[in-house]
Amino acid sequence: MTSEISLSTVPAHTRHGSNIGQPLTRRDGVLKVTGAATYAADNHPEGMLFAVMATSSIARGRVVALDVDAAKAHPGVVDVMTPAHKPELAMDPDAKTNPFMFRLDLLQNDLVRYAHQPIAVVVACSLEAATEGAALLAPRYEEEPARVGLDADESFEPAAIGIGSPARIERGDVEAALAGAEHRLEATYETPAQYHNAMEPHAIVAAWDGDTLSIDTPSQGLAMAQGRLAGLFGIAPENIHIRSPFLGGGFGSKGLVSGPQVLGIMAAKLVGRPVKLVLRRDQMYGPVGHRPPTRQTLRLGFDGEGKLSALHHHAKTVSSTFDDFFEPAADISHTLYAAPAILTSHEAVRADIGTPLFMRAPGEATGSIALEGAIDEAAFACGMDPLAFRLKNYAEVEPISGKPFSSKALRECYRQGAERFGWSRRTLEPRKMRDENGYLVGWGMGTATFPALMFQAEARAVLRRDGSGVMETGAHDMGQGAWTALAQIAADALGLDLDRTEFRAGTSDLPDAGIAGGSAHTATAGMAIHNAGADVVAKLAALATGDERSPLFGAGNAGVVAREGRLHRRDDESRSEGYGDILARAGLAQIEGKGAAAPDPSAQETYAMHAHGAVFAEVKVDPDLGQVRATRLVGAFAAGRVINPRMVRSQFYGGMIWGISFALHEHAVMDRRSGRILNADLAEYHIPVNADVPSLEALMIEEHDPHVNALGIKGVGEIGITGSAGAVANAVWHATGVRVRHFPIGLDDLLVPAAA
Ligand code: MOS
Repeated sequence: MTSEISLSTVPAHTRHGSNIGQPLTRRDGVLKVTGAATYAADNHPEGMLFAVMATSSIARGRVVALDVDAAKAHPGVVDVMTPAHKPELAMDPDAKTNPFMFRLDLLQNDLVRYAHQPIAVVVACSLEAATEGAALLAPRYEEEPARVGLDADESFEPAAIGIGSPARIERGDVEAALAGAEHRLEATYETPAQYHNAMEPHAIVAAWDGDTLSIDTPSQGLAMAQGRLAGLFGIAPENIHIRSPFLGGGFGSKGLVSGPQVLGIMAAKLVGRPVKLVLRRDQMYGPVGHRPPTRQTLRLGFDGEGKLSALHHHAKTVSSTFDDFFEPAADISHTLYAAPAILTSHEAVRADIGTPLFMRAPGEATGSIALEGAIDEAAFACGMDPLAFRLKNYAEVEPISGKPFSSKALRECYRQGAERFGWSRRTLEPRKMRDENGYLVGWGMGTATFPALMFQAEARAVLRRDGSGVMETGAHDMGQGAWTALAQIAADALGLDLDRTEFRAGTSDLPDAGIAGGSAHTATAGMAIHNAGADVVAKLAALATGDERSPLFGAGNAGVVAREGRLHRRDDESRSEGYGDILARAGLAQIEGKGAAAPDPSAQETYAMHAHGAVFAEVKVDPDLGQVRATRLVGAFAAGRVINPRMVRSQFYGGMIWGISFALHEHAVMDRRSGRILNADLAEYHIPVNADVPSLEALMIEEHDPHVNALGIKGVGEIGITGSAGAVANAVWHATGVRVRHFPIGLDDLLVPAAA
């Protein structure tokens, strides 16, 4: 198996000089559109068998019988893995030693904790035989009533929400501020369960060779996956080789190793042959995470001029009965609006569901639609335009921490977004605008924000005598453009043109690139690349400046600039030398450097770090049928330095479409009697198609943030949902005068007697 994957395809647009900032097309685009890109399930090693999971049709109880004999008797079936017949694990799948470790269902017993939980795995010579074998298992259950939804059980305050954040944070005295406020507003918003629905299902091809494990599987976090699997199977992490060059979407659901992936590896061990296991679409509605439902109550206090004095954001959410993931929905209220008294609080219940997990803007997406709705309500209550209300209350320093923002261009986002949209022509009163066909027209807005995070990463850089360079880091491209944007950073870091830069990523044998999550991958892996380039260039410069035969002799490291494969004296750029000449004279074939990245603790102590934005939406509503169409969205986002404007715009579009989806389409419908999701497929689980998204514009607001990292990069993957979902919902209110506080907004919510 080749352990390294690299892309040397030259993109359509290359420019000599600075690669960062160029709108290059995806370097992996041609591979993808021609079908040459290999996704995990495209790998078929010699002797491979097919595994199919049997999953539970009940949500709670135990499996009392499986007809293993019938399955085994089916032609082509090789083995059936059950709690009674499976390889030993080195670690209890229910053990939890850190907050990033989630409990897995690996056939450890006969208990059923949620619908679609794996209860057996059938391995066969063909997918068809394995599928038929799984059906023949005909499980019998001892069923208990399923506990479902936000009122499933007694609620409690979680010890922590998200990853280790406090459930309750207060600044000032919110109750006193509310009691003393001129106006008070209380509104409760509900958001439904949502599922990631990445186009590529979770898949794994696993092959054992003694104690060495090779796997093809989509991963947003290769090093973490290696560590997790090493613990479960009791082997050294370096004995696990994971290839994940391309992901067909992830959105958080491929951030951590999931149970089904581990079952594929166990099945391969059981039968002693390579095994492929791919989830069916419906099997993705259980064991691989989801966005849990929330019920959020906003309590606002403000004066007659619309100045906020109190903000209480309370969120109730749901976790599984056996693990802890609590959607931090109220924490969005820490950042945006400057009330002198702010309280965020959370409570939760446990239900018979698979453990919820990170889903694109976990917490911010759910919290934002409720907060932006309540802000919109408050603006109308004091007769103010929602933009004027936001401008009056938006925070100059982060309200909850009191820290200044590391940089902030939100006012500019509001200004440019509003101007581009034409916001000044909006009526204050709802249900007053119509188009030429008589449809009700509504305009709404929302503020967007997402933290500028960084994790830890490493990279390795090589400069070669032939004038080319290599940059290696185990980065992940789930469609967002990492192959392209990180290669651009690599080329600049090496002082080379992109076509002389080989960028290697997507496998666990390379230096740890951190996790492609938290909108932090470009900043994190990018900074490791930047530093590795600086290291190798410094070594090369030392060779030249210390050699009297070099035109750079005596320049000193600080006095040299790397550009287009040459080092130039900073004080006299006409004096330069090519990389190849320097290495040749030193008798070296190549020279190597290393770099690491991590957040800067002193900058994080001093500043609040966030990206910001403003989204403006237009909807049209059929006054007779209540049918809603989102017809136009304009978003303006300030997210630090833009590495590739084409990729970044595409991320903003993707986020904005999720916003439309959140407001108008997505909803996992739970059967309250069985605890099963009724629409566990892409036909019934609605997401926007092209016809639902007629016009999007994303403005990139220039922002130089010197504090987030040396490159000034903030994330763009998640911010687009925040703001957009609320903007669409607020536009529906403005069109109709009906304030719907649950999502998705359906036409049945809007069928009210028309105003005379
Ligand atoms: Mo994301 S939910 O940080 O992959």
